[in-house]
Amino acid sequence: MKATLITGASSGIGEAFARRLAAEGHNLVLVARSEDKLAALCDELMLEHKITAHYVAIDLNDYQADLRLFKETVNHDLDINFLINNAGFGSMGYFADLDLDRELSMVNLNVMVLVALTHRYLRLMVEEGEGTIINVSSAASFQPLPFMAAYAASKAFVTSFTQAIAEEYGPKGIRILNFCPGATDTGFFDAAGMEEPVMIKGVEEPEDVVETALNALEKGKTSVISGWKNYLVAKAAQISPDKMVTASVAKVLRPKVESQSRPAAVSDEEE
Ligand SMILES: NC(=O)c1ccc[n+]([C@@H]2O[C@H](COP(=O)([O-])OP(=O)(O)OC[C@H]3O[C@@H](n4cnc5c(N)ncnc54)[C@H](OP(=O)(O)O)[C@@H]3O)[C@@H](O)[C@H]2O)c1
Repeated sequence: MKATLITGASSGIGEAFARRLAAEGHNLVLVARSEDKLAALCDELMLEHKITAHYVAIDLNDYQADLRLFKETVNHDLDINFLINNAGFGSMGYFADLDLDRELSMVNLNVMVLVALTHRYLRLMVEEGEGTIINVSSAASFQPLPFMAAYAASKAFVTSFTQAIAEEYGPKGIRILNFCPGATDTGFFDAAGMEEPVMIKGVEEPEDVVETALNALEKGKTSVISGWKNYLVAKAAQISPDKMVTASVAKVLRPKVESQSRPAAVSDEEE
């Protein structure tokens, strides 16, 4: 059975992708850690849209989780012809104050897991001569971001990697999109230890950014930034002197970071 696999489908942008694609008749494999949320979403979408929806409750940061997920879909004869690498999280603060294990987990999830799942499913898509991959990067991927240093760097990797493979595999019938949302109203900020979205005023709804991604895919684009303000900021950053960009971001974020009462990420051991 052909199916669309979405990581990080239990909330936010991933859940919005699941709802939208279910309405379009896609069979789904939903992946995240929160089993209750995934089970409820699968039940709801199957009932409402007469599709088949499976879920895999897994911590993608666990050892060889990408391989276990891949085998699970192969063993259940799920032919993943549409992959959305969406699971990810951020952090904010002075880098040395952030919890190292959490920073490494973030880089692992945002980068290593995305690369591994892309590799595993892309091979099958190439064999079949068709398939679609959306890698969820960020508008933050276009410039270094002081106080979100490792997060922005992880997304810079995603943008560079995805744009490159999109070019490699376009002629082989595989559509690959680098999708860069700006500030979107999800659990992201809470998970990152932020009290509110920073830098950008216009926060978008997950349904709207999903619409942007799917429209871009339809038009054959290989990269899209959601929101025209985010687009302008990203393009301006690319043509401005690096030091000017980092200094102006730091000027805005430093007081916010210093005024935040709760640390962005402190491990249980350190508390
Ligand atoms: N919201 C924004 O402003 C924004 C802007 C730019 C880019 N993005 C990107 O958009 C993507 C989705 O984020 P979101 O905004 O929708 O935030 P969100 O609501 O916090 O969703 C994150 C999703 O990732 C899953 N996840 C987190 N850690 C996981 C792990 N170790 N294993 C498996 N699943 C895991 C979460 O599910 P469980 O907790 O159930 O595991 C959840 O479904 C991320 O890659 C993020 O970097 C977001």
